[in-house]
Amino acid sequence: MIAIKHRVIPLAAAALLCSMLAAGFQQAARAQTALPAAPEAATGRTQRSLGHATQHMVAAANPLAAEAGRQILRAGGSAVDAAVAVQLVLNLVEPQSSGIGGGAFMVHWDQAVRKVVTLDGRETAPAAAKPERFLGPDGRPLGFMAAVVGGRSVGVPGTVRLLEDAHKRWGKLPWAQVFEPAIKLAEDGFAVSPRLNGLLAGEQALRSDPVARAYFYDEAGKPRDVGFVLKNPAFAATLRSLARDGAAAFYTGPLAADILATVTGHPTNPGDMTAADLAGYRVIEREPLCGRYRVYTICGVGPPSSGAIAVQQILGMVERFDLGRLGPGANAVHWISEAGRLAFADRNLYVGDPAFVDVPSAGLIDPAYLNTRANLMSQERSMGTARAGEPPRRRAQLLAPSDPQIEYGTSHISIVDKDGNAVSMTTTIEDGFGARIMTKGGFLLNNELTDFNFVPSANGAPVANRVEPGKRPRSSMAPTLVFDAFGRLYAVVGSPGGSQIIGYVVKTLVGLLDWRLDPQQAVDLGNFGSRNGPTELERGSEAETWGVTLQTRGHEVRAIEMTSGIQAIIVSPIGFLGGADSRREGVAIGD
Ligand code: GLY
Repeated sequence: MIAIKHRVIPLAAAALLCSMLAAGFQQAARAQTALPAAPEAATGRTQRSLGHATQHMVAAANPLAAEAGRQILRAGGSAVDAAVAVQLVLNLVEPQSSGIGGGAFMVHWDQAVRKVVTLDGRETAPAAAKPERFLGPDGRPLGFMAAVVGGRSVGVPGTVRLLEDAHKRWGKLPWAQVFEPAIKLAEDGFAVSPRLNGLLAGEQALRSDPVARAYFYDEAGKPRDVGFVLKNPAFAATLRSLARDGAAAFYTGPLAADILATVTGHPTNPGDMTAADLAGYRVIEREPLCGRYRVYTICGVGPPSSGAIAVQQILGMVERFDLGRLGPGANAVHWISEAGRLAFADRNLYVGDPAFVDVPSAGLIDPAYLNTRANLMSQERSMGTARAGEPPRRRAQLLAPSDPQIEYGTSHISIVDKDGNAVSMTTTIEDGFGARIMTKGGFLLNNELTDFNFVPSANGAPVANRVEPGKRPRSSMAPTLVFDAFGRLYAVVGSPGGSQIIGYVVKTLVGLLDWRLDPQQAVDLGNFGSRNGPTELERGSEAETWGVTLQTRGHEVRAIEMTSGIQAIIVSPIGFLGGADSRREGVAIGD
């Protein structure tokens, strides 16, 4: 039997053990000196300890959700069984970020057949959606919140269908069983967390929705206190219905009617989703997007997410530098943010739903192309703003670059089970609390359609990510699996954070693979990057102190809050080591 039972071992001890056991961890002591100061995020920061387990591990954004996943793993469930349980509990305890009213991307590793499969459960635009959806009567783009709040921004949710599809393929426990932890918490109640309370306090639009207001606030409009036991019997009933009848009960019948009434009945900003839109929702299995980084193979989800393409482009461009020798600091950030500029320039021109636009995914991560792109970077000076390149295998098509967009919210789940299967799943209702409308079934609806570009064309050319009927909005979600030189699963990584997800995931991968940080250190290291604007450094972290040097190289530096929510697990010689982002409330636990 396994000697070490579900406990968290001190970071220093774990790092020491690892360094004794694995050559790859020989730099761990040096890496520890790179531990970040504790920057303040929007709802505070609590330092997490490195998680250690030898049988299975789950890292999720809330302890109750992670615990639900562990229960399922203990009951003999697979990584996917645990992912379903975690997602359903997250809907309750972290309702601002994800849930059954939203969408997700899953990357799955099946150890028995040694295969990566990616599932696209992204929301889709209704059939009635038009490119001008987010333009006002004056032809100008709506303000973000004017577009978000109400039914107009709601895409046909994909998460329930994704969970069911994944469970049919890789589930071991009965479908109804994986619903039990969430049903119990919905009926018995759960203690409101400081983060949920803090976000509710700062939230205005949610109070205008009568169902949400009655649930999240007291009669005086005060958010439910920290520790208040919040029950959601309506959601429990929804879950019981899904547990009994499967995803069909979400996309047709009374639950679907409730979703439609909520979307189309919004008093000021109704949407146009129909019963046919809901009934027709399909999950798409997509070819995994895999590329090499040094000796590793990195796999993620292709379009409509831009996440894996951009992550792999950045890594491909910085591979020529010995980042391990540079270590965390201004020199490494210079190269990574320059590569970020180039990657975002390509992303903003080329990436959209591949059913509507020809995305040259393979060309964008082609090593020869990345070499020509990397040649544009200079050691002395930041390039400022990058322009999109001409990747190979690109079909002639006229496209206009998209404007930067506001994208927030989201949650990430990383799981490995005792058979070596893994799930990396990033899941979202987009902005915090989504469209700010709650169904009578007790869950919030997404505002994912505001991930489309509001301005559909420029200079007569269409924008790849413009709204179109039945289209999936471009995402930045980057659920990632890493394999070592022998093809063995090495890491399970991902983060929320809108378009900053790309930089968060790159930082974590470089932290793990080049700087040999343990997962907790890699996750907690100050965030940095560039989205082809300023070089962004996490305010209050060690990254902020690198700004002066970067400015001498011409970087326009901006110190901002960068509230990632990274969950990272690695497979080490002593078992699974996991890190959950100290900027949020997550934990990495196992047995
Ligand atoms: N809504 C966040 C994303 O899809 O990237």
